[in-house]
Parts: sequence; structure tokens; C-alpha cells
Amino acid sequence: MERPEPIRPFLRWAGSKRQLLPVLSDYSPRRFGRYLEPFLGSGSLFFHLRPARAILGDVNADLMATYEQVRDNLDAVFSELSAMRKGKEEYYRIRSSDTSSLNPAEQAAQFIYLNRFSFNGLYRTNRKGEFNVPYGGAKCAGVPARASLEASSRALQGAELVSGDFEVVLAQARSGDFVYLDPPYSVAVRRVFKEYDPSSFCTRDLQRLRRWLDRLTEVGAEFLLSYAKCEEAELLMEGYAARQVAVRRNIAGFSRDRRRAQEWLISNMKTLGYEEA
Ligand SMILES: C[S@@+](CC[C@H](N)C(=O)[O-])C[C@H]1O[C@@H](n2cnc3c(N)ncnc32)[C@H](O)[C@@H]1O
Repeated sequence: MERPEPIRPFLRWAGSKRQLLPVLSDYSPRRFGRYLEPFLGSGSLFFHLRPARAILGDVNADLMATYEQVRDNLDAVFSELSAMRKGKEEYYRIRSSDTSSLNPAEQAAQFIYLNRFSFNGLYRTNRKGEFNVPYGGAKCAGVPARASLEASSRALQGAELVSGDFEVVLAQARSGDFVYLDPPYSVAVRRVFKEYDPSSFCTRDLQRLRRWLDRLTEVGAEFLLSYAKCEEAELLMEGYAARQVAVRRNIAGFSRDRRRAQEWLISNMKTLGYEEA
């Protein structure tokens, strides 16, 4: 079956799967009911496959509100974004503005602007929930072009957007759906985030995720899960098909710490070698 022309995500995201897209897309089924992605981030695979019907979610409420505005209110978002200038001073002015005084389109434009100009596209907030990533420098690529946001908006038209825990998306899975899961790596997260971070993952979350893999299999949904090669991955892999893929991982957020690492692709798809017990 022919796939639509892939689109590049309009956000930068730590742990983005852009470099693995050729592999992920090869392993994705050619036909499926709906596409579910509960750890969306910049949605690399979603924008690559552009499925007609999708349920997309992330625990980051500002991120999901931004997608909603790009889907439903693109003109207003783009007009706000076009009025924002480039540069360090403007970045810190926008970063310090009180988001509660902004309308949803202004908030989305601010989110996109800060994402595009922040250091390494990182998303991090302080305990008060204020975005606190420093300016990324003049090398940043700038805000997305109108055509890129329009293409993303079109891709999102058939998507239900969920802001919250991954279980809310997975509870909607049914037979024939394809689910792509890219949770944060609990190992890397411990090293990177020393302070409280609602989007970090712990062993208890991994155990919850494992139970959901079994439920997805029971309802007849196909899943593909990306996870780091580490001890914790064994909990997720047991009884499922697993393949190793090589990735360059940006562990500390600094380019000198980019390393080659192995990652797992775990699945209940027969095409990947899964055999029912
Ligand atoms: C590795 S990133 C996903 C990257 C994405 N595949 C991409 O290509 O950009 C993991 C995402 O999971 C989200 N997340 C963390 N904990 C979550 C939870 N309990 N439920 C849903 N999303 C969560 C984070 O906010 C983050 O955006």
C-alpha cells in the first residue's frame, strides 16, 4: 500500500526518533486500523507515516495544547509566530512572559518559538512549571515555514489529541490498531534530570507499561516499542520479539557526549518474529 509523502516534525525534541525512521517505517505494518502513539514528543513516526486516523498523547500538556492549536487554529498561530523576532534578547523576553495572560494561539506560538530557539530543543521547567531552558544561539534554524505548519496541520486533522498519562491512549486500543511506543528511558533520565520532572519514567512506570503490552496483545492490537539496551528492557521484552538497532544517542544534551548505542525494538508483530505462546 502506498504511503503519503512523509513530513518533518515542526518541533525539536530530546530523544526524537528521526534518525531511526527508515527502520521504524520498515517495521510498521502497511495496513492498520488506527495509529496510536502515547509518548508523542515531536511525533517523528506519526508525521512520517501520516495515518488517516490516530490517537496521540503525551504527558506534556503544553505540547499537546500546541498540537491542538496547529490542528485547529493555524492562521492565528502562524500570525503570532511571524511577529516574533530572532535573537537572544527576544528569546528571553518571550521566555519570561506570563503564559497565563496569553490566549491559546499565543501560547502555542510561544511554545514553538522557544522550542526552536532553545538549547538543543530541550523542554525543561522549574518547580513552578516555568520553562527554563537557555537560548540555543544564532545557529538555530528559525521558526517553521508556513508550508511546514500547514502540512502538519493537515496530518493532524484525523487525530484525537490526549494530554495525560500513556494509559489514557492505550485504553482505547482495539483489534487492528497499530501502537508505536517510545517512552523516556528510565536509565538516561536519572542521569540527566536531577530535579523533579513529571515526564521522567521510573521502574513502576515500566511495570505498568509491561502490563499494557500484554493487554494490547490480548485485544489484537499490534505494537512496536523502542527502548534503550539496558537491564530494565528485559522486563519489556520477555515473551515478545526483539531486535537490536544502532543509534547515535545524545545522552547529556551536549554534542561531545553523542555516542553510538544499541536500542531495542520490541514487538508483538509476527513480521518481526513474534510467536504466540
Ligand atoms: C522519548 S520522548 C518521545 C520522542 C518521540 N518519539 C519523537 O520522535 O519525538 C518520550 C515522551 O514521553 C513523554 N512522557 C513521559 N512520561 C509519560 C507518561 N507517563 N505518559 C505519557 N507520556 C509521557 C515525554 O513528555 C516525552 O515527550
